Amino acid sequence: MNQRILVSRHVFPEAIGILEAAGDLEYNDSSTGLSKEQLHAAVKDKQALVCQLTDHIDASLMDAGKDLRVISNIAVGFDNIDITAATERGIVVTNTPGVLTDTTADLAFTLMVAAARRICEADRFLRAGGWRQWEIDMMTGHDIHGHTLGIFGMGRIGQGMARRASGFDMRVIYHDVTRAAPEHEEEWGIQYVDRDTLFRESDFLSIHVPLDEHTRHAVGRDEFALMKPTAVLVNTSRGPVVDEKALADALEQGQIASAGLDVFEAEPVVEPRLLALENIVIVPHIGSASIRTRTRMCTMAAENTVAVLSGQRPPNPVNPETLE
Ligand code: DGY
Repeated sequence: MNQRILVSRHVFPEAIGILEAAGDLEYNDSSTGLSKEQLHAAVKDKQALVCQLTDHIDASLMDAGKDLRVISNIAVGFDNIDITAATERGIVVTNTPGVLTDTTADLAFTLMVAAARRICEADRFLRAGGWRQWEIDMMTGHDIHGHTLGIFGMGRIGQGMARRASGFDMRVIYHDVTRAAPEHEEEWGIQYVDRDTLFRESDFLSIHVPLDEHTRHAVGRDEFALMKPTAVLVNTSRGPVVDEKALADALEQGQIASAGLDVFEAEPVVEPRLLALENIVIVPHIGSASIRTRTRMCTMAAENTVAVLSGQRPPNPVNPETLE
């Protein structure tokens, strides 16, 4: 009997080709996705679910899909899936690490530069007809070079950020729950500091921790109180890592200077006070959004799915204990 696969929402077509060769496909080729009820109904007779970070995959969904063998998330993050529940049920969960590292680090660096040099504000100013003449203090911002970049979370994307910073003559400090090996610190030109020092000394603070019970609201009032009034916060990880209301307060009160944000607490809703601010750059969760990377994320998820369905070890298991 053919394996049955559910694809919860629109993906790049290259992935569909791979999946079609592996089983019978139910493809919701729509960008709106399925409601909770629709997802529960659709997963009932499926062995595989290919989903995205906008799909909330909890224990009740896994109980509805009692034949599920694999849940392939098209993302490196997997905070949308209850991993414990999946492991308890023997369902393999996979993700798409590595391929989006540099694309996301590119965006984080771009947000940092755009916020520091007031790029979006200057663009709005020019388009609105505000530019009458060259002026010595017009749209002056802050330099990147010669300043300190603080990286919160030295995983793959944090390392990508450090590589970019070295080309901009920045000092790089970092904090993580585990310290990098001394040879890596030397090779990547990074210096380990305690958490408070990270917030206190960074001119630019870029967040690269995953979202879990330890990192939810890890950056809030206490951290903003430590930061420099000239500091720029960059977040391309997950919105709930930052307390958005505390961030709005910090920006309104000049506790920090500016922010570059790709992710938000209740996507696609953005705290209205943030939208009203001139001194931030905000984009709609596009960290990995290059055509090449998003295509590869989709094909990786398809390959993970096919591997599990054909009894092989998938390249990117999140809960490898289910494979033992
Ligand atoms: C991820 O992969 O977790 C990103 O947030 C989307 O690319």
